[in-house]
Amino acid sequence: MQTEKNRKIPFFERKKLGEIGDLREDLLPLELQGAHPERKKAFLAGRECAQKVCEKRGVFEPKIGRDEQGRPIWPPGIVGSITHSREWAFAVAGGTEAFYGMGIDAEKIDNEARGYEAIIKKILTPGEQHCFGEEKRDILACFCLKEAFYKCLDPVLGGLMTYQDMREMEITAIEWATGDVIIQMSTALTARVPASSRLWARCWVEADIQHLCAWVGLDREAMIQ
Ligand SMILES: CC(C)(COP(=O)(O)OP(=O)(O)OC[C@H]1O[C@@H](n2cnc3c(N)ncnc32)[C@H](O)[C@@H]1OP(=O)(O)O)[C@@H](O)C(=O)NCCC(=O)NCCS
Repeated sequence: MQTEKNRKIPFFERKKLGEIGDLREDLLPLELQGAHPERKKAFLAGRECAQKVCEKRGVFEPKIGRDEQGRPIWPPGIVGSITHSREWAFAVAGGTEAFYGMGIDAEKIDNEARGYEAIIKKILTPGEQHCFGEEKRDILACFCLKEAFYKCLDPVLGGLMTYQDMREMEITAIEWATGDVIIQMSTALTARVPASSRLWARCWVEADIQHLCAWVGLDREAMIQ
């Protein structure tokens, strides 16, 4: 089991989405200027969180870029990830000396429209269904962890992450008391990401805003350089 001492934890930041009247259109990339106002609000709140996690690492970056696939472009020395719900945005970031990839996902809890049955059937492996298929909180955590895993690995795989790749990751333990999560990969995703790669993961509830968050980080040390 991972301990508090050796666990690597990135910086985390959250922000409530702003009001439409406060939208800073000048901060939007060209491709989002015609987007729905809710999308613009989410993008800008996500960018604010991203800037703040960079600042926590001592890096002041006025504009976190966006590549053609929609992935954030982090300043040198930082690897991070952004997510948003309809109400809140979140970001995490760590140093490239420790992490090679990072992903975060957050979901509002008690969204009754959510298709838990579909998540169980389509997304959970048989082992995960056995361990986590009963409790809504566990099912939602598995969903978030898999989305975070995708965001962590997709940039590493150069945008070639497939649905099958997603199924190579299995969640074997979630310790709600500490937030620790054990995940394993059953096979190498590329020659550079062996099955033995160290994946750090956590999930937790931001209770005051009723969101479940999860992050996954790919340890740099296990990578084949
Ligand atoms: C890319 C994807 C992960 C985005 O997730 P989402 O739930 O729609 O949206 P989120 O709010 O969580 O995240 C959006 C942010 O992810 C980031 N992002 C987008 N594409 C990304 C990628 N390929 N890799 C890493 N990060 C990405 C961006 O920062 C984006 O926010 P921004 O455009 O405001 O900067 C999702 O659309 C996707 O393609 N998932 C595929 C994985 C899958 O099959 N999941 C289902 C089973 S778990």
